[in-house]
Amino acid sequence: MERTLGLIKPDAIAAGYTGKILDRIIQAGFLLRGLKMLHLTRPQAEAFYAVHRERPFFESLVEFMTSGPIVAFVLEKENAVAAYRDLMGATDPAKAAPNTLRALYGQNIERNAVHGSDSPENAQREIAFFFSESELIPLQTPTLAAI
Ligand code: RTP
Ligand code: MG
Repeated sequence: MERTLGLIKPDAIAAGYTGKILDRIIQAGFLLRGLKMLHLTRPQAEAFYAVHRERPFFESLVEFMTSGPIVAFVLEKENAVAAYRDLMGATDPAKAAPNTLRALYGQNIERNAVHGSDSPENAQREIAFFFSESELIPLQTPTLAAI
């Protein structure tokens, strides 16, 4: 079993898609191991996206990600990182496969509804960015298989 970090971005929250996105993730067999809503500060958003600091879209991305609340969650599944990126679809919703989260709920390449970690190493870093261990349900807690 592997863990990954996901976000519902401000565009999807504002459009009322939070429940639909979480439902889709759960129905796809991911186990929710942590969940919170928060509004990123500018320093937090800049730190989270530090890897993109030199990219031309960085300033716009930080502006967008601080424009409203987000939902952060930790998912557990076999190959969770790759499986969740498959469920999200390509970065640009116009190029995302049919029925993926970004195809269904994204607006454009920036306002693309959801985030997911891109490697197991980054997943560990991103989970720790948003959650302390005490805020996470331990791996493979058997009685919580359906949430
Ligand atoms: P994410 O990190 O959000 O899961 O998305 P990703 O791996 O598919 O894409 P990444 O290259 O890591 O880019 C991070 C986020 O920056 C915004 N972006 N805007 N205007 C643009 O050309 C552009 N390119 C990327 C998107 O919000 C993207 O998800
Ligand atoms: Mg990325």
